[in-house]
Amino acid sequence: MTISWSRTNDGKYWDFRGVSASYLVHGMHPYPARMHPHIARTLIARFGKSRSGIVDPFCGSGTTLVESLLAGFDSYGIDLNPLALIVSKAKTTLVDPDDVSDLVLQSTRLIKRSKTHFAVTPTGDQSKILKFWFKRRVLSQLLALKEELQSSELWHSRYKWLFASCLSRTARAVSNQRPYEFKAYRLPKELRQKHNPHVPKVFEGIVLQSISRQLEFYLEFQRQNRDRNPSSEVLLADSRTSYFRAVADLVITSPPYGDSPTTVNYEQFSRISLMILDIPRRDFGWTRERHQKVAHESVATDSLTRRVMAKLGVVDAHKARVLGRNFDSLWRSISSMTQLLKGGGVCCVVLGPRTVRGVTIPTPDIVSEYADQFSLKRLDCISRNIPRKVQPWRNNSGRTIDNEKILIFSKLR
Ligand SMILES: C[S@@+](CC[C@H](N)C(=O)[O-])C[C@H]1O[C@@H](n2cnc3c(N)ncnc32)[C@H](O)[C@@H]1O
Repeated sequence: MTISWSRTNDGKYWDFRGVSASYLVHGMHPYPARMHPHIARTLIARFGKSRSGIVDPFCGSGTTLVESLLAGFDSYGIDLNPLALIVSKAKTTLVDPDDVSDLVLQSTRLIKRSKTHFAVTPTGDQSKILKFWFKRRVLSQLLALKEELQSSELWHSRYKWLFASCLSRTARAVSNQRPYEFKAYRLPKELRQKHNPHVPKVFEGIVLQSISRQLEFYLEFQRQNRDRNPSSEVLLADSRTSYFRAVADLVITSPPYGDSPTTVNYEQFSRISLMILDIPRRDFGWTRERHQKVAHESVATDSLTRRVMAKLGVVDAHKARVLGRNFDSLWRSISSMTQLLKGGGVCCVVLGPRTVRGVTIPTPDIVSEYADQFSLKRLDCISRNIPRKVQPWRNNSGRTIDNEKILIFSKLR
């Protein structure tokens, strides 16, 4: 079966130019390389009919999960990044309108208490890092707020994730981190001097905005799900390992293109939030696993992977080895995605080609080659121009991703 749509079912183009990617809870917390929600929405509308579980093994900020809930499907997300788990859970835990006035009251009280609370700033190595990222006054306000939040009832309720996500967003906003930059870069000195945020005020604004987004989401969820009650689960785990077998009818995902200087670095993006939330740093960068064994099958002699690595190897041998480990991770992920799917299930993978040291890495073709090794039959490949993004369009390695492919496979029965 070949579907070959150049347009979506409702006659619109896949670029979704001019269509907001931040409606309802989607814009609740920034996250790098978010999928446009209309991609998930359109794929669910096309393949979700009469199907049950939808899985996103690289769920990031939970775009697929939110759209699954709206469309009435149970969904499961997996991600290695604790911040992804927090944000996904914050978005998919619906706020009951009856709880809103209490949530606002409790948060107002804790903000007030934090203003008279004296938080002891850490000493030693941690203090050096914190002082690099925060001004002294800002840090003490932020720690006071965190301590008040963590000792409040809210932290022990189902809304813990919502408030953890608000604290994470606040920490980013008040830190010396450059806004709209996903890598860990400090504001230049002159901007740092002018940057004097009032932490309680910033947090209050973020809480109110998040609750209001949640309320809109609740109303839309109710409207779409009159006789259904879909749910969502998120698991902190490594998707290169297969945990489940034949549980999903539909997989919709955008895997990482590789944590490298030419792509998104999720660890750097999450660093400030995880530090403030006291979540120990953990290495979830694919390329950092220097001793990771490369599966023989992922670099078969006559494969495209081998040819691309050889081409890059001429320019930069080290980068070619790193890329090899990236490819291997991708191969393992496709293998475990195949196992997640039931026979006849559909798998949609969104990714783009990238450039390393001027060499084009045809990631979508490589994924198609891997899928061929498993029992995945390619149904379609849709091209999509990316109209807007946070990363620059060019960097030292050449052009960054400006288009992506939506690859659609079905698992043979
Ligand atoms: C392109 S982002 C997904 C963005 C998501 N579609 C969204 O809309 O927010 C890729 C995600 O893969 C996660 N990741 C990287 N390696 C992983 C692994 N081995 N297992 C599970 N998740 C992983 C990253 O933490 C990141 O959240």
